[in-house]
Amino acid sequence: MTSLRRTAVLFTGVAILTGTVALAMGLSCGRHLTVQAVGLWLVHALTAVLAAWLAWTLWRLHSKVRQLRDSEATYRTLVNASSDGIAIFVLDHVRFTNPALLRMMGYASESEILGQHYAAFLPPETVDEVRGLVDTWVTRGLVEFHELQARRKDGSLAELEVSASTLVYQGEGALQFIVRDVTERNVLRRRAAQAAKLAAVGELVAGVVHELNNPLTAIVGYAGLLAKQPHSPSQEEDLARIAAQAQRAASIVRKLLTFARLQEPERRATDLNQLIRDTLDLQAYRLRTSRVAVALDLAPDLPQPAVDAQQIQQVLVNLVVNAEQAMAAAGRPGQLAVATRSAGSAVEIRVNDNGCGIPSEHLDRVFDPFFTTKAPGEGTGLGLSVSYGIVRDHGGEIRIESRLGEGTTFIVLLPLGQPPRAPEGPRPASGGRLPTRRWLVVDDEPVALDVLQHALGSVGQYVEVAGSGHEALQRLAAESFDYVVVDIRMPEMDGATLKALIEERLPELRGRVIYCTGDTANPTTRALLHSSALPTIEKPFRAEDVEGAVRRLVAAAEHPRA
Ligand SMILES: Nc1ncnc2c1ncn2[C@@H]1O[C@H](COP(=O)(O)OP(=O)(O)OP(=O)(O)O)[C@@H](O)[C@H]1O
Ligand SMILES: [Mg+2]
Repeated sequence: MTSLRRTAVLFTGVAILTGTVALAMGLSCGRHLTVQAVGLWLVHALTAVLAAWLAWTLWRLHSKVRQLRDSEATYRTLVNASSDGIAIFVLDHVRFTNPALLRMMGYASESEILGQHYAAFLPPETVDEVRGLVDTWVTRGLVEFHELQARRKDGSLAELEVSASTLVYQGEGALQFIVRDVTERNVLRRRAAQAAKLAAVGELVAGVVHELNNPLTAIVGYAGLLAKQPHSPSQEEDLARIAAQAQRAASIVRKLLTFARLQEPERRATDLNQLIRDTLDLQAYRLRTSRVAVALDLAPDLPQPAVDAQQIQQVLVNLVVNAEQAMAAAGRPGQLAVATRSAGSAVEIRVNDNGCGIPSEHLDRVFDPFFTTKAPGEGTGLGLSVSYGIVRDHGGEIRIESRLGEGTTFIVLLPLGQPPRAPEGPRPASGGRLPTRRWLVVDDEPVALDVLQHALGSVGQYVEVAGSGHEALQRLAAESFDYVVVDIRMPEMDGATLKALIEERLPELRGRVIYCTGDTANPTTRALLHSSALPTIEKPFRAEDVEGAVRRLVAAAEHPRA
């Protein structure tokens, strides 16, 4: 282009020079007009005209080229600066890409990608579907956004929103794509949808658990009480069976509660690396017999988040057991890798296995309570729901990356934060016979009343019962009691109101009224229990639970400094 300008300048010079000469000759030739002079003048004049015309044409061309160059630069800037990817395919092969598309797909330069067939960027299982789409796009000419999956250079999957249009590129029919990476957006959407779904399931579970708690309380309680009475060996076996099955049901209920309720974990700054080592030690036998090689990559100087170590250990056990089962299912030598690292304001734990992987259609369901792909009796489908509940209660997150047939990584993120001080509950007075005290138990469920009465009676307590708040107030006005147990959820007058009235009318019972409830999944109940420093009897309870609560309460009320 500079040569164009140089030529134009040259011709302008020639035009001026020859024009000047012709002008000078014209002025001087007036007096000595010869044929030779006229001929020479004509040559100069014509050269001047020709050179001027050429110069003008070249200047115009130069200006056109400049305009073209400017507009090309504008378009190039637009295409290069676009955050959307742009790609042009001629006969299904890449002919042009912009930097955004290269970034999205993980390539460093256009040369790595030019000339490749589109199938090279797709997961094999989607190639046929995309081929059908491309045919439709070519026929229809313009297609609005459509979502599809693509494989990046490093093999990871990207979710792309693609719009296509046909055009002519360098004289050939071509298909142009505008591509947006929506992987992150979709992850966030799915996470929000999953959280909403699990919250709804949680509410349902909380309701079911509440309904199950009373009958279970009765079964566990009566079985425990019967066991203390004289019986024949065959009755003993039956009782043991009832107790074992009831315990199993109670343990499922407890797991469901962990999933459903927003339970405040008892947090303390915890060395997660050590917790991981301890957990793997616990699982060492299981992993060794399954021939699983364990690799640890634990970040030194890992910050210590405030967590409930026991609960987080439960999460780790669930993940390790799942990994071991998935590796056994894959039938190749297992490799389990556990890594920790600091991730901004959180700590990240990754549990990776080379097991069977999780099909994409299951990814949204594995946290659902009772979702399992294991044979009956092998899994209840509660491990991940419980883990989800625990991590959520810590304000953290649990994510999955999985490739079918290749393996799975569970990523647990636990936020760093100030450890709230664990509530200093009254300590149980251990061992020894309990002094006999007078108890009033208030519950609208006759079965619960009966079981509690028996349970308290079996540890030497004198117990009276009342079926409602009003009846309890009448009894308390007429007789004296040392302690009162109130159910929280009762019709007419609830437990909290009753407790407040008792403490107002009978100040000597302050610190001696405790709650009994099966409704710990309910946020109001949780708040109530949280605000009370006294022990609680949670349904379904075992005789030991009741005894423990009684000991703690008596210790706190009668020996406050013990
Ligand atoms: N690491 C993994 N690899 C492959 N699939 C997994 C993995 N972890 C979980 N899953 C899938 O998720 C399902 C649910 O897991 P979860 O731990 O909740 O229940 P479970 O293991 O089936 O039973 P439970 O843990 O109650 O004994 C499993 O049945 C399995 O299909
Ligand atoms: Mg499991």
